[in-house]
Amino acid sequence: MQHLIITHGGAGSPIKYRDSTEKAAKKGYSVLRKKGNAVDAVIEAVVVLENDPRFNAGTGSRMRLNGSIEMDASVMGSNLKCGAVAGIKNVKNPVKVARKIMETPHILLAGEEATNFARKNNFRYYNPATKEALKKLEETKNKLKNGKIPVWAKKWKKFEYKKFTGTVGAVARDKKGFAAAVSTGGTSFMLPGRVGDSALIGCGIYAGRHGAVCATGVGEEIIRHILSKSVYDKIEILGPQKACELGVSLLKNFPTGLIAVSKDGYGMACSENMACTVASKNLLKSGVQ
Ligand code: GLY
Repeated sequence: MQHLIITHGGAGSPIKYRDSTEKAAKKGYSVLRKKGNAVDAVIEAVVVLENDPRFNAGTGSRMRLNGSIEMDASVMGSNLKCGAVAGIKNVKNPVKVARKIMETPHILLAGEEATNFARKNNFRYYNPATKEALKKLEETKNKLKNGKIPVWAKKWKKFEYKKFTGTVGAVARDKKGFAAAVSTGGTSFMLPGRVGDSALIGCGIYAGRHGAVCATGVGEEIIRHILSKSVYDKIEILGPQKACELGVSLLKNFPTGLIAVSKDGYGMACSENMACTVASKNLLKSGVQ
């Protein structure tokens, strides 16, 4: 199999942010060439995106309604080894903590103990808050005050996500297998304690012997459809591009993006604009519009 990596900046992310998805894809591709390891490649690519404050992951993560920042991330290889964090606080790169959990007998650590695990493993205190995230929180609170967004029990409406830039993620193929990784600060209008798809294997990501998939969009809807595993299951029959398109069409009224890689192909689809990049030998292509 030929080395290949795809990166994305979230459903709804402006195409102009492709400078960052390209940087991430190039970084991931260089790791593939040097180490030949898809898991290391997706981690390094996602770290580049987590460190870009324009994206809702790592530095720049959305704030919860109480002003806290709780981040989700996960990683999976085609040997079915995986690691994930839910609601982790005050680390710079949640995806690296997920990678560390992959080396333990467990899959998912949540909340305070995820943060404690990070500290014990030398992930230093880091405040990912940005002025932009604070501004967005104030906007959200004003909307709530003015009754411009529905109460929690009502169905989500598409317009509420217009400015939503969801997660960041990557999928990769090395000579022997596949990997996927994802990271997020969550979504808009989040209660503290809410966990989204990016912490849940099969929902935000999936990897197996046929390929790897990463989803972005409204976590609750992605979870309902176990979206990444559903798309993975279609890769063999439809190929990765059609499988991604089918996945996007399943979540009709919600901004949704998918990237996928198989033994001999790849796919990228989104209901909105999405900054994303595919990189392989002699190929560097960006954007879904
Ligand atoms: N897809 C990101 C989230 O909803 O948490």
